[in-house]
Amino acid sequence: MIVAVDGPAASGKGTIARAIARHYGLPHLDTGLLYRAAGLALLRGGGDPSDEVQAVAACALTGVDFADPELKSEAAGGIASQISAYPGVRAALIERQRVFAAQPGGAVLDGRDIGTVIAPAADAKLFVTAAPEVRARRRFDELERLGMKLPFAEVLADIEARDARDRSRAAAPLTMAGDAHLVDTSGLGVDEAIARALDAVRARL
Ligand code: C5P
Repeated sequence: MIVAVDGPAASGKGTIARAIARHYGLPHLDTGLLYRAAGLALLRGGGDPSDEVQAVAACALTGVDFADPELKSEAAGGIASQISAYPGVRAALIERQRVFAAQPGGAVLDGRDIGTVIAPAADAKLFVTAAPEVRARRRFDELERLGMKLPFAEVLADIEARDARDRSRAAAPLTMAGDAHLVDTSGLGVDEAIARALDAVRARL
């Protein structure tokens, strides 16, 4: 059983994907972390994000600590969004994601192109979204909890810029798969959003 959870930044897709994984006892992969890790590795190595060859080399992800809180920073998210538009970067990270999805018992993956590119034959696909202001507020609160406080207007501008880039790129743009179920979490609390998502998955199995 493969569950694909896609959606824009801070839509709640990670929380929902983790809850689905817990509910069904499946492993979960936050694929955004792969792009963030490549971006951070590139920055730390003094690489140039405008150079696709250097960005692809950073996808080897050598020496990456996936528990590093810096991966959650806006800087890492911004650079991830920039380099994820390179076809070479997407190609370099695709295999890891497909192998994860193909585990014998199944898996839950969240990202931007899971239902469209990584696992188009997934058993259940969700597209999780929320209004930009709602997503910016959540990201603002999350950053504050992590001790990375930024002005709200800056967080909102980042989210909007990232959405625009993710939706307009030529390689695997953020878009809802035709057979995905839409979950708009704008007016929902966490428990309600999870309950709706689980209902949608159940209906598809
Ligand atoms: O989901 P998260 O905000 O951690 O993703 C960071 C960036 O990585 C996104 O803005 C997007 O550009 C890129 N990404 C992607 N494909 C995925 C997951 C993330 O292009 N499957």
